Amino acid sequence: MKLLTLLPLLASTSLACAGTIKQQDDIRSLPITRNGTTLILNKKPWKAVGANVYWLGLDENVSPRSPDQPYYAPTKATYPTQGRITEIMAVVKAMGGTMIRSHTLGISVGNPLSLWPAPDQTNEAAFAPIDWAVYQARVYGLRLMVPLIDNFDYYHGGKYTFLRWAGFNLTGKESSNPQVQQFYNNKTIVNMVKRYISVLLTHKNPYTNLTYAEDPTIFAIETGNELNGPVWGDMNVPTKWVREIGQHVKGLAPRKLFVDGTYGVNRTHFAVDEVDIFSNHYYPVSIDKLKKDLNTLSTVDKPYFAGEYGWLGNAASADANLTAWFRELEASPKVIGDTFWSLFGHNVPDCDTFVEHSDGFTMQYGNPAHAAQIKLVRQHFVKMSKGLSIADDETLPSVPCPAPTAR
Ligand SMILES: *[C@@H]1O[C@H](CO)[C@@H](O)[C@H](O)[C@H]1NC(C)=O
Ligand SMILES: *[C@@H]1O[C@H](CO)[C@@H](O)[C@H](O)[C@H]1NC(C)=O
Ligand SMILES: *[C@@H]1O[C@H](CO)[C@@H](O)[C@H](O)[C@H]1NC(C)=O
Ligand SMILES: *[C@@H]1O[C@H](CO)[C@@H](O)[C@H](O)[C@H]1NC(C)=O
Ligand SMILES: *[C@@H]1O[C@H](CO)[C@@H](O)[C@H](O)[C@H]1NC(C)=O
Ligand SMILES: *[C@@H]1O[C@H](CO)[C@@H](O)[C@H](O)[C@H]1NC(C)=O
Repeated sequence: MKLLTLLPLLASTSLACAGTIKQQDDIRSLPITRNGTTLILNKKPWKAVGANVYWLGLDENVSPRSPDQPYYAPTKATYPTQGRITEIMAVVKAMGGTMIRSHTLGISVGNPLSLWPAPDQTNEAAFAPIDWAVYQARVYGLRLMVPLIDNFDYYHGGKYTFLRWAGFNLTGKESSNPQVQQFYNNKTIVNMVKRYISVLLTHKNPYTNLTYAEDPTIFAIETGNELNGPVWGDMNVPTKWVREIGQHVKGLAPRKLFVDGTYGVNRTHFAVDEVDIFSNHYYPVSIDKLKKDLNTLSTVDKPYFAGEYGWLGNAASADANLTAWFRELEASPKVIGDTFWSLFGHNVPDCDTFVEHSDGFTMQYGNPAHAAQIKLVRQHFVKMSKGLSIADDETLPSVPCPAPTAR
């Protein structure tokens, strides 16, 4: 694949001649920093807009291609191909995105394909897709937000995996058992989680020779995904835990932004200096809920990120109006970005078949059934990140499959 075929995707960046490619590389090596409620890249405000692509480190949606491909049948876990990872970077770029939020770049515990199949046992093979994703994000000029712990008990592991490792016999079905708070309060578990984070952040990526802690491609580390206590929506994540994890992350990676992954804005966490960004999720999109969150946040000089929202809102329904939702995000000075839930691509190297996922929120770039919303998403990303308006009759940029791995 020739470089030139990719250029239309990058029309508004300065990749037109060899001299500016170096400049792009330099920008990719700069960290995203925060000044009050503004994120900054290269002395200019920067917005974090893009997709949730939860499967970059480990997937559950594709059958193994051959008997020798690593596969964990009980949860259907497989590693995504390099081609799938690269294609999704090209798609997010084509949509005008600047970043991706991806659970399995950081959450990977408890099955034989995980980073930690068992406590303190690192499975080096699990780093391969993560290394490739971090490298390809850099190639495409995208940044990554990486959650560390999942609140639930899915194929990639999370809170319950650590609880079971510490001898608490709980599954996601026992989410209301008060013992789940041992995850945050028990020193044995907290120390185990900190060792896991150290293994992740000090891993050196062979494609870049940078550790994940060093590589500014990973611009943000999030405590976790939708973290709660024993009552749904209680936001009961102890302040002490948020602070301890934040200090640990910033101790290893001082230039990363730290995101509070509590499911909602818990004002007791305003006391934690380490937190750079607060966030919430929206199913369906809700301007009322967004306004409440921003109002809660009005007493603190920190920005807001809408980490997940269902993209199925449509212009014919006033209560899940995607257009109105995007205008609201664009108009709020505290909002530094958002990532819709969730993006899939082709089953590369099979470029004729899209990967399907069963939660009803699978967006596929190039699927005609999703084109109307994809157009709104692209208009929103470009508006947020560049302040530019895209005409309604624009043809969506095409993305080759397989997508080029280098430029
Ligand atoms: C941070 O923002 C404030 C005002 O919002 C501005 O006065 C200051 O110069 C900024 N600092 C940096 C380092 O950009
Ligand atoms: C913490 O968990 C360990 C098991 O890993 C257990 O022995 C200990 O009693 C727990 N601590 C508290 C305070 O419950
Ligand atoms: C764990 O709990 C389940 C029921 O929830 C029970 O069937 C199982 O025997 C328990 N395992 C241990 C090791 O206690
Ligand atoms: C990484 O470092 C090793 C050892 O210095 C070197 O051989 C290799 O070429 C480097 N790789 C990259 C991508 O810079
Ligand atoms: C917020 O976090 C604190 C722990 O710091 C917890 O006690 C409280 O239940 C949480 N939820 C709300 C709504 O404040
Ligand atoms: C959706 O929001 C847009 C922008 O505010 C508005 O123009 C449109 O009328 C809304 N659609 C419905 C059905 O409410």
